[in-house]
Amino acid sequence: MPGRIPQAFIDELLTRVDIVDVIDARVPLKKAGREYKACCPFHNEKTPSFTVSQVKQFYHCFGCGAHGTAISFLMEYEHMEFPEAVEDLAHLAGLEVPREAGSDTTPQTTTQPLYDLLEAAARFYRQQLRTHPEASRAVDYLKARGLTGEVSAHFGIGFAPPGWDNLTKALGKDKTALASLVETGLVIERNDGSGVYDRFRDRIQFPIHDRRGRTVGFGGRVLGDDTPKYLNSPESSVFHKGRELYGLFEARKAVRKLERILVVEGYMDVLALAQFDINYAVATLGTATTPDHLEHLYRTVPEVVFCFDGDRAGRAAAWRALENALPVLRDGREARFLFLPEGEDPDTQVRKIGKQALEQRIAEAVPLSDFLFDHLASQLDTSSIDGRARLVDQARPLLSRLPDSIFRQMMIERLAEIAHTDPVRLSKRLEPAHESRPPADTLPSAPARQGKSPVREAIALLLYQPALAGAIDELPFQAQDSVPGVALLTELLELLQHRPGLNTGAILEHWRGKEEARHLNKLAHWKPLAEDLDLAAELRGLLEQIAQQMTERRISQLLENEHQRPLDDEEKHELKKLLMARRAGS
Ligand code: GTP
Ligand code: MN
Repeated sequence: MPGRIPQAFIDELLTRVDIVDVIDARVPLKKAGREYKACCPFHNEKTPSFTVSQVKQFYHCFGCGAHGTAISFLMEYEHMEFPEAVEDLAHLAGLEVPREAGSDTTPQTTTQPLYDLLEAAARFYRQQLRTHPEASRAVDYLKARGLTGEVSAHFGIGFAPPGWDNLTKALGKDKTALASLVETGLVIERNDGSGVYDRFRDRIQFPIHDRRGRTVGFGGRVLGDDTPKYLNSPESSVFHKGRELYGLFEARKAVRKLERILVVEGYMDVLALAQFDINYAVATLGTATTPDHLEHLYRTVPEVVFCFDGDRAGRAAAWRALENALPVLRDGREARFLFLPEGEDPDTQVRKIGKQALEQRIAEAVPLSDFLFDHLASQLDTSSIDGRARLVDQARPLLSRLPDSIFRQMMIERLAEIAHTDPVRLSKRLEPAHESRPPADTLPSAPARQGKSPVREAIALLLYQPALAGAIDELPFQAQDSVPGVALLTELLELLQHRPGLNTGAILEHWRGKEEARHLNKLAHWKPLAEDLDLAAELRGLLEQIAQQMTERRISQLLENEHQRPLDDEEKHELKKLLMARRAGS
């Protein structure tokens, strides 16, 4: 089990990678003065308020309050766990992630044994497809379905041999391994507690990869016409059907710059399309496409084409996909629908008409706007006023789900046109677009700057220019808890004196997950009111102010004590000293 990642490595990492490169590769940035800007990827907006500071190695959105380091960005944007984000950045910087000795107790790594086991299972199934005495049945089946060894290998296809305990025997070496196997769902515990058995038996195995290529589950298909035709791994701590898409990892691997993604229904559809060199299809795992799926797809490509059977069930599924797509359709994102002839799926269709003809049909797929209005209109009589009023009634909640965008405006105009009504009045009757508003307390409070306490200001100054710590030789006060935040300030100063050269992002990583992180992050986007201030002098002044504050507090505390009881000699002495110091100071 890997140990903790040493903090010193995170420090090193965050001075080596540039947050601007990391973000720009995903959200194109524009230079604006000393900083970089873009429309915020975490909320809908038309004017850019997402700001990236190269100096601080920190991003911050003035619109929604999102903020953080290069690591936080990957965690938020790519849904990575902390260790994954670190690995990813380390890879970029050409560094190996070291681990501290001893086992880790953080929750992320408790999933590592599951990933390892799933990977071992994928290897096992692949090996069985090559070596098991009955594997020829599976190989023949795949051949009969028109799949070459090359495509099968690209998707890591395997074979779960017949029998109740092949996998259990191969991987369930001890109690822990067996428990993990049960947790992944690859092995099932008998109800009567008399033991366990393999979930997948005598099936073609489709490993399901997450976006980073780790195996998180399997789909298994029978070789013939038995039922159930497919079995899927159950949900587990590493496998969420509403999040993963079959074939996405493989598509990203096969196509360097994906332009569009085709969403189909079945595993075999993804494989058959790949067999015909259409390498950009993904399948949901027997569920409807969720907004989470779609958000992820649109972060990969600007265009998603949903492919469904043209029958009633297919149309109903397409409508569900449409409803889920609406909230994520910002400007620049396109959704279209391809309906296949009844009884056809992409697998049979591509074999019948070939790559070129199918791609032609993909290119001509129905835009979401047409599908939406045509579908509603098909159930109504739009030549009557009543019918048109009902159309407006039914379209209104749907259009309300669109984020504020030019597309939303155009949809409203289109509805107005169909309904013979006025777009402005129609627009007013829609729910306001939900520009995912941030909770109030994450909003930057500009006027608060003036009222900021000296402690907060000193912390902000150090986060703005960490090198200032070098200008402080000795603190004019003792670190005490009598003034809020002094302990944090002292800790920060000590860190910076031990590790000069840390940038803001690297500093913040030292407090990841701790209570203080919230305060630090809020202060991290502060800027001095003028560029030409002597910041070292400012900082010294602030520390003096803090010392005075602490003196005042202690004086009033002692005076208060005096009301209750006579002070002892030591306290008297202290009070005298403090009162003298106050006089000298002012
Ligand atoms: P083939 O029949 O081999 O062409 O498979 P397919 O991939 O075309 O599957 P189909 O269109 O019948 O179903 C689409 C998807 O629904 C499959 O890929 C599975 O994810 C899911 N599915 C189909 N049948 C079952 C089943 O019996 N059980 C479960 N859990 N899921 C199924
Ligand atoms: Mn099929």
